[in-house]
Amino acid sequence: MNNALIEFRGVSKSYRKGSEVVDAAANVDLRIQERGMVAIVGPSGSGKSTLLHMMGAMDRPTRGEVLVAGEAVNRLSSGELTRFRRKTVGFVFQTFNLIPNLTALENVALPMEFNGVSAAERSARAKALLVRFQLGHRLKHRPRELSGGEMQRVAIARAVANEPRLVLADEPTGNLDSRSGKLIYELLQEVSRERTVIVVTHAEELAKLADRVIHIRDGQLVEDPNSAIRLASNTL
Ligand SMILES: Nc1ncnc2c1ncn2[C@@H]1O[C@H](COP(=O)(O)OP(=O)(O)OP(=O)(O)O)[C@@H](O)[C@H]1O
Ligand SMILES: [Mg+2]
Repeated sequence: MNNALIEFRGVSKSYRKGSEVVDAAANVDLRIQERGMVAIVGPSGSGKSTLLHMMGAMDRPTRGEVLVAGEAVNRLSSGELTRFRRKTVGFVFQTFNLIPNLTALENVALPMEFNGVSAAERSARAKALLVRFQLGHRLKHRPRELSGGEMQRVAIARAVANEPRLVLADEPTGNLDSRSGKLIYELLQEVSRERTVIVVTHAEELAKLADRVIHIRDGQLVEDPNSAIRLASNTL
Protein backbone atom coordinates (compact mmCIF):
# COMPACT_ATOMS: atom_id res chain seq x y z
CA MET A 1 0.00 0.00 0.00
CA ASN A 2 3.04 2.30 -0.12
CA ASN A 3 3.27 2.62 -3.86
CA ALA A 4 0.93 5.58 -4.43
CA LEU A 5 2.66 8.42 -6.25
CA ILE A 6 0.42 10.97 -4.54
CA GLU A 7 -1.17 10.70 -1.15
CA PHE A 8 -3.23 13.35 0.66
CA ARG A 9 -3.93 12.74 4.33
CA GLY A 10 -6.55 14.98 5.90
CA VAL A 11 -5.58 17.89 3.68
CA SER A 12 -7.34 21.22 4.10
CA LYS A 13 -6.63 24.58 2.53
CA SER A 14 -8.44 27.59 3.92
CA TYR A 15 -8.42 31.15 2.67
CA ARG A 16 -9.57 34.09 4.72
CA LYS A 17 -11.64 36.63 2.84
CA GLY A 18 -12.30 39.41 5.36
CA SER A 19 -14.22 37.77 8.16
CA GLU A 20 -15.18 34.79 6.00
CA VAL A 21 -13.11 31.59 5.71
CA VAL A 22 -13.26 29.67 2.42
CA ASP A 23 -12.31 25.97 2.53
CA ALA A 24 -10.84 25.45 -0.93
CA ALA A 25 -9.93 21.92 0.22
CA ALA A 26 -11.77 20.34 3.15
CA ASN A 27 -10.20 17.30 4.82
CA VAL A 28 -9.23 15.57 1.59
CA ASP A 29 -7.93 11.97 1.66
CA LEU A 30 -6.69 10.78 -1.69
CA ARG A 31 -4.31 8.25 -3.24
CA ILE A 32 -3.20 8.29 -6.85
CA GLN A 33 -1.13 5.49 -8.33
CA GLU A 34 1.87 5.80 -10.60
CA ARG A 35 1.05 6.19 -14.33
CA GLY A 36 -2.31 6.71 -16.00
CA MET A 37 -4.55 9.72 -16.46
CA VAL A 38 -6.74 11.16 -13.73
CA ALA A 39 -9.28 13.89 -14.52
CA ILE A 40 -10.45 16.35 -11.88
CA VAL A 41 -13.83 17.88 -12.65
CA GLY A 42 -16.16 20.17 -10.73
CA PRO A 43 -17.84 23.57 -10.84
CA SER A 44 -15.92 26.83 -10.89
CA GLY A 45 -14.57 27.64 -7.43
CA SER A 46 -14.88 24.04 -6.19
CA GLY A 47 -11.14 23.76 -5.49
CA LYS A 48 -9.72 21.99 -8.57
CA SER A 49 -6.73 24.30 -9.07
CA THR A 50 -6.08 24.37 -5.32
CA LEU A 51 -5.78 20.56 -5.35
CA LEU A 52 -3.49 20.59 -8.37
CA HIS A 53 -1.24 23.28 -6.89
CA MET A 54 -0.82 21.30 -3.68
CA MET A 55 0.08 18.16 -5.70
CA GLY A 56 2.80 20.15 -7.46
CA ALA A 57 4.05 21.83 -4.28
CA MET A 58 3.12 25.23 -5.65
CA ASP A 59 0.88 25.71 -2.64
CA ARG A 60 0.99 24.41 0.92
CA PRO A 61 -1.93 22.90 2.81
CA THR A 62 -3.27 24.68 5.87
CA ARG A 63 -3.61 21.27 7.55
CA GLY A 64 -2.69 17.69 6.71
CA GLU A 65 0.04 15.90 4.78
CA VAL A 66 0.79 15.90 1.07
CA LEU A 67 3.10 13.06 0.00
CA VAL A 68 4.38 12.99 -3.56
CA ALA A 69 6.93 10.44 -4.78
CA GLY A 70 7.70 9.56 -1.18
CA GLU A 71 8.35 13.15 -0.04
CA ALA A 72 6.22 15.03 2.49
CA VAL A 73 6.10 18.16 0.37
CA ASN A 74 4.31 20.17 3.06
CA ARG A 75 7.49 19.90 5.13
CA LEU A 76 10.12 20.80 2.52
CA SER A 77 12.11 24.01 2.78
CA SER A 78 11.87 26.45 -0.13
CA GLY A 79 15.19 25.24 -1.62
CA GLU A 80 14.04 21.63 -1.39
CA LEU A 81 10.73 22.60 -2.99
CA THR A 82 12.48 24.05 -6.04
CA ARG A 83 14.56 20.90 -6.45
CA PHE A 84 11.46 18.73 -5.96
CA ARG A 85 9.44 20.62 -8.60
CA ARG A 86 12.25 20.53 -11.17
CA LYS A 87 12.81 16.83 -10.77
CA THR A 88 9.35 15.43 -10.19
CA VAL A 89 6.70 17.72 -11.68
CA GLY A 90 5.87 19.14 -15.11
CA PHE A 91 3.16 21.78 -15.46
CA VAL A 92 0.86 22.53 -18.39
CA PHE A 93 -1.18 25.75 -18.26
CA GLN A 94 -4.37 26.84 -19.99
CA THR A 95 -2.54 29.82 -21.50
CA PHE A 96 0.57 27.81 -22.52
CA ASN A 97 3.02 30.19 -20.75
CA LEU A 98 5.79 29.78 -23.34
CA ILE A 99 8.63 32.30 -23.36
CA PRO A 100 7.81 34.58 -26.31
CA ASN A 101 11.32 35.40 -27.51
CA LEU A 102 12.53 31.78 -27.46
CA THR A 103 11.94 29.28 -30.28
CA ALA A 104 9.93 26.11 -29.74
CA LEU A 105 13.21 24.17 -29.42
CA GLU A 106 14.64 26.64 -26.88
CA ASN A 107 11.43 26.62 -24.82
CA VAL A 108 11.60 22.83 -24.52
CA ALA A 109 15.35 22.84 -23.81
CA LEU A 110 15.18 25.45 -21.04
CA PRO A 111 14.02 23.27 -18.10
CA MET A 112 16.84 20.83 -18.88
CA GLU A 113 19.34 23.68 -18.49
CA PHE A 114 18.06 24.20 -14.93
CA ASN A 115 18.71 20.49 -14.35
CA GLY A 116 22.32 20.68 -15.54
CA VAL A 117 21.97 18.86 -18.90
CA SER A 118 24.66 19.84 -21.46
CA ALA A 119 23.73 22.18 -24.32
CA ALA A 120 24.19 19.53 -27.01
CA GLU A 121 22.06 17.01 -25.16
CA ARG A 122 19.34 19.57 -24.36
CA SER A 123 19.04 20.44 -27.98
CA ALA A 124 19.00 16.81 -29.13
CA ARG A 125 16.39 15.81 -26.53
CA ALA A 126 14.20 18.84 -27.22
CA LYS A 127 14.28 18.11 -30.95
CA ALA A 128 13.43 14.44 -30.44
CA LEU A 129 10.45 15.38 -28.26
CA LEU A 130 9.13 17.94 -30.71
CA VAL A 131 9.48 15.48 -33.60
CA ARG A 132 7.62 12.87 -31.56
CA PHE A 133 4.87 15.46 -30.93
CA GLN A 134 4.63 16.13 -34.70
CA LEU A 135 6.31 19.52 -34.49
CA GLY A 136 9.53 18.67 -36.33
CA HIS A 137 8.70 21.41 -38.86
CA ARG A 138 8.27 24.06 -36.16
CA LEU A 139 11.56 23.85 -34.22
CA LYS A 140 12.69 27.39 -35.01
CA HIS A 141 9.27 29.03 -34.71
CA ARG A 142 8.54 31.44 -31.89
CA PRO A 143 5.25 31.11 -29.97
CA ARG A 144 3.54 33.94 -31.92
CA GLU A 145 4.23 32.00 -35.13
CA LEU A 146 2.43 28.91 -33.83
CA SER A 147 -1.26 27.99 -33.52
CA GLY A 148 -2.79 27.51 -30.06
CA GLY A 149 -2.71 23.73 -30.45
CA GLU A 150 0.93 23.84 -31.53
CA MET A 151 1.83 26.06 -28.58
CA GLN A 152 0.20 23.61 -26.20
CA ARG A 153 2.09 20.69 -27.75
CA VAL A 154 5.34 22.63 -27.24
CA ALA A 155 4.26 23.27 -23.63
CA ILE A 156 3.62 19.54 -23.08
CA ALA A 157 7.05 18.74 -24.56
CA ARG A 158 8.55 21.28 -22.14
CA ALA A 159 6.61 19.74 -19.23
CA VAL A 160 8.05 16.27 -19.90
CA ALA A 161 11.58 17.44 -20.84
CA ASN A 162 13.05 16.47 -17.46
CA GLU A 163 11.12 13.18 -17.43
CA PRO A 164 8.98 13.99 -14.39
CA ARG A 165 6.93 11.26 -12.76
CA LEU A 166 4.00 13.67 -12.47
CA VAL A 167 2.45 15.96 -15.11
CA LEU A 168 -0.17 18.45 -13.94
CA ALA A 169 -2.41 20.22 -16.45
CA ASP A 170 -4.93 22.91 -15.49
CA GLU A 171 -7.60 23.18 -18.22
CA PRO A 172 -5.07 22.51 -20.98
CA THR A 173 -7.71 22.68 -23.74
CA GLY A 174 -9.59 25.68 -22.34
CA ASN A 175 -8.18 28.04 -25.01
CA LEU A 176 -8.37 25.62 -27.95
CA ASP A 177 -10.96 24.67 -30.56
CA SER A 178 -12.30 21.12 -30.31
CA ARG A 179 -10.05 19.68 -33.04
CA SER A 180 -6.82 21.01 -31.49
CA GLY A 181 -8.15 20.05 -28.08
CA LYS A 182 -8.61 16.45 -29.21
CA LEU A 183 -4.95 16.24 -30.29
CA ILE A 184 -3.93 17.53 -26.89
CA TYR A 185 -6.05 14.86 -25.15
CA GLU A 186 -4.43 12.16 -27.25
CA LEU A 187 -0.98 13.47 -26.46
CA LEU A 188 -1.69 13.57 -22.72
CA GLN A 189 -3.02 10.04 -22.93
CA GLU A 190 0.20 8.93 -24.62
CA VAL A 191 2.25 10.73 -21.95
CA SER A 192 0.21 8.96 -19.25
CA ARG A 193 1.55 5.55 -20.31
CA GLU A 194 4.88 6.50 -18.74
CA ARG A 195 3.86 9.14 -16.17
CA THR A 196 0.99 10.12 -13.94
CA VAL A 197 -1.04 12.82 -15.68
CA ILE A 198 -3.57 14.84 -13.68
CA VAL A 199 -5.86 17.01 -15.76
CA VAL A 200 -8.31 19.59 -14.50
CA THR A 201 -10.99 19.89 -17.16
CA HIS A 202 -14.47 21.02 -18.05
CA ALA A 203 -14.35 18.98 -21.27
CA GLU A 204 -16.44 15.80 -21.05
CA GLU A 205 -14.44 14.10 -23.82
CA LEU A 206 -11.20 14.56 -21.93
CA ALA A 207 -12.67 13.30 -18.68
CA LYS A 208 -13.96 10.23 -20.56
CA LEU A 209 -10.46 9.36 -21.75
CA ALA A 210 -9.12 9.35 -18.21
CA ASP A 211 -8.56 6.12 -16.26
CA ARG A 212 -10.15 7.74 -13.25
CA VAL A 213 -12.38 10.77 -12.69
CA ILE A 214 -12.39 12.68 -9.43
CA HIS A 215 -15.35 15.00 -8.90
CA ILE A 216 -14.94 17.85 -6.48
CA ARG A 217 -17.61 19.99 -4.81
CA ASP A 218 -16.90 22.70 -2.23
CA GLY A 219 -13.40 21.39 -1.60
CA GLN A 220 -14.57 17.81 -1.03
CA LEU A 221 -14.01 14.77 -3.24
CA VAL A 222 -16.84 12.81 -4.78
CA GLU A 223 -15.38 9.91 -6.72
CA ASP A 224 -17.13 8.66 -9.83
CA PRO A 225 -18.12 5.07 -8.90
CA ASN A 226 -17.79 3.84 -12.50
CA SER A 227 -14.26 5.12 -12.87
CA ALA A 228 -13.39 3.66 -9.47
CA ILE A 229 -14.47 0.24 -10.75
CA ARG A 230 -12.36 0.73 -13.88
CA LEU A 231 -9.46 1.78 -11.70
CA ALA A 232 -9.84 -1.27 -9.51
CA SER A 233 -9.46 -3.57 -12.51
CA ASN A 234 -6.71 -1.48 -14.16
CA THR A 235 -4.42 0.09 -11.70
CA LEU A 236 -4.83 -1.14 -8.16
N1 LIG B 1 -5.28 33.01 -3.25
C1 LIG B 1 -6.56 32.92 -2.85
N2 LIG B 1 -7.07 33.77 -1.92
C2 LIG B 1 -8.35 33.65 -1.51
N3 LIG B 1 -9.20 32.71 -1.95
C3 LIG B 1 -8.77 31.85 -2.88
C4 LIG B 1 -7.43 31.90 -3.38
N4 LIG B 1 -7.28 30.90 -4.29
C5 LIG B 1 -8.47 30.28 -4.35
N5 LIG B 1 -9.37 30.83 -3.52
C6 LIG B 1 -10.76 30.39 -3.30
O1 LIG B 1 -10.77 28.99 -3.11
C7 LIG B 1 -11.86 28.38 -3.79
C8 LIG B 1 -11.33 27.34 -4.76
O2 LIG B 1 -10.59 27.99 -5.79
P1 LIG B 1 -9.92 27.20 -7.02
O3 LIG B 1 -9.16 28.19 -7.81
O4 LIG B 1 -9.20 26.03 -6.50
O5 LIG B 1 -11.22 26.71 -7.81
P2 LIG B 1 -11.36 25.99 -9.24
O6 LIG B 1 -12.20 24.79 -9.04
O7 LIG B 1 -10.01 25.82 -9.85
O8 LIG B 1 -12.20 27.08 -10.09
P3 LIG B 1 -12.15 27.45 -11.67
O9 LIG B 1 -12.88 26.33 -12.39
O10 LIG B 1 -12.90 28.71 -11.76
O11 LIG B 1 -10.72 27.57 -12.08
C9 LIG B 1 -12.62 29.52 -4.44
O12 LIG B 1 -13.68 29.87 -3.59
C10 LIG B 1 -11.61 30.63 -4.52
O13 LIG B 1 -12.24 31.89 -4.49
MG1 LIG C 1 -9.05 26.60 -11.53
